[in-house]
Amino acid sequence: MRKKKKLYEGKAKIVYETEDPNYLIQDFKDDASAFNGVKKGKIANKGYVNNQVSAHLFRYLSSYYVPTHFVDLHSDTAMVVRRLDMFPIEVVVRNIAAGSLLKRTKYKEGETLPKPLVEFFLKDDEKGDPQITEEDIINDGLATPEELDYIKRLALKINAVLKSFFERRGIKLVDFKLEFGKDKDGKIYLADEISPDTCRFWDVQSGEKLDKDRFRFDLGNVEEAYEEIRRRVFLEDTVTE
Ligand code: ADP
Ligand code: TMP
Repeated sequence: MRKKKKLYEGKAKIVYETEDPNYLIQDFKDDASAFNGVKKGKIANKGYVNNQVSAHLFRYLSSYYVPTHFVDLHSDTAMVVRRLDMFPIEVVVRNIAAGSLLKRTKYKEGETLPKPLVEFFLKDDEKGDPQITEEDIINDGLATPEELDYIKRLALKINAVLKSFFERRGIKLVDFKLEFGKDKDGKIYLADEISPDTCRFWDVQSGEKLDKDRFRFDLGNVEEAYEEIRRRVFLEDTVTE
């Protein structure tokens, strides 16, 4: 498949049409942004790492019957994906308290939540991606109750599968953000990316942060952290599944 017209350029990826209207190519950039675009920079090799890590995790999730938009790798930094109508919602799953949750609750950073927490944010840069309730999502027609219920259950399944995948590689999956879309027949797929840009990863042994928080808070060794995640993701499983 070949890149045709540029369809969209976002903060982290460029999306191209292909010769087939049902498929797109998403090319991952080294550009990094945080705090709703206020902080901008570049992370060397990020496009490569995020593409490879996302591809591997999408393939792994497919083996657990999670429908994903991933079709094939296209290049070092790009993948072919199924073209979807995206739900304008960011779905965040949390296992351990961190990030924006600390501002909204009494949890201290690092506290394990009693059970995984699913939250929804409106994908709207101008409004600063505010948190929204399930009621808002349904009342505003962003998803039907059935679609939302399915998305929530799928998000929790993805969390269970990935949490254990990362545990076996010495990494705590603290939290992460997912995006979903649906095809012409209304079938819902996991889309976008799963990478150190969209997850919080903490090393089990040292507690070191191995994700975009290193860029957000100028913690240094950003490229090294991304590369370490790529290395661990590609480690063979030692546990028989
Ligand atoms: P942003 O729009 O937040 O700046 P990106 O730079 O990551 O984000 O751009 C990728 C865009 O492509 C996002 O808006 C995302 O919702 C969208 N997208 C992801 N997967 C698909 C897909 N399979 N079909 C259509 N759009 C997609
Ligand atoms: P938060 O703690 O800032 O709400 O972020 C929760 C998770 O979602 C964290 O792993 C980072 C990820 N995330 C994104 O991928 N994109 C975003 O725009 C935001 C705000 C968070």
